[in-house]
Amino acid sequence: MPIQNQGPHFCSDDSDLLSEIMSARRDVRGNRFLADELAQEDIEQIFAAALMAPSVGFSQPWEFITITNRTTKELIADSFFIENEKAKALFQAGKFEVGKLEQYQQLKLEGILESPLNIAVFYNPKNGPVLGQTSMPDMGRYSVVCAIQNMWLKARSLNIGMGWVSILDPIKVKTILNAPQDRELIAYLCLGKVDKVSISPNWKPSSGRKKRHHSRSFFPTATNKIALAHPSIH
Ligand SMILES: Cc1cc2nc3c(=O)[nH]c(=O)nc-3n(C[C@H](O)[C@H](O)[C@H](O)COP(=O)(O)O)c2cc1C
Repeated sequence: MPIQNQGPHFCSDDSDLLSEIMSARRDVRGNRFLADELAQEDIEQIFAAALMAPSVGFSQPWEFITITNRTTKELIADSFFIENEKAKALFQAGKFEVGKLEQYQQLKLEGILESPLNIAVFYNPKNGPVLGQTSMPDMGRYSVVCAIQNMWLKARSLNIGMGWVSILDPIKVKTILNAPQDRELIAYLCLGKVDKVSISPNWKPSSGRKKRHHSRSFFPTATNKIALAHPSIH
């Protein structure tokens, strides 16, 4: 009997293309964004990608607010500046591995004003129990992150840069955006066309951290050894 509603079968070229997009995805900051407005069709495609994400119990607990208004962006940017001063104090005290304040200060860590489109992404918790989330309450939040990653990849495939800004006071952001009390800010995203996209992450800690070899991203155990089919892949 033929299988009904079978999904598409992908070839190795399709799979390679997906890997290429994932590998070319970058976090984009304000020094790279162009001011040009994004096409509405592209924005819609990015949101469509978000909605394709998996979610615990199919709860789809994500909500988005788009921000293009300069005054609102300035209020958000103020929160970044305040929070970034606090971060600098921590780096000055040598509390992080980056260690040196001068290095931290040189980093461009957001593109709130430079990017034409900002998107705040919220978690909308359900009132009752959610299938699959009863023992691990963070699963709803992780579902929102799945949607964000879809957006990041879709944006990259449209040659649109996206940056994630988390050096913000989430309560202030909620207030500025008039978000309902029970919503939780998961991400503040900056999107726009870019002059160029780096081929590797821009953020280089002084410790010289590189992309992890995937053999270092698993916990091999006595009973469950990780077999690396392609140990040369980074
Ligand atoms: C949850 C999350 C929060 C992040 N917050 C910031 C941020 O506040 N500022 C920033 O410049 N980059 C932020 N980033 C981007 C990371 O610094 C970036 O992904 C990392 O340096 C690797 O670079 P790549 O994304 O270009 O591969 C964030 C990324 C994630 C996943």
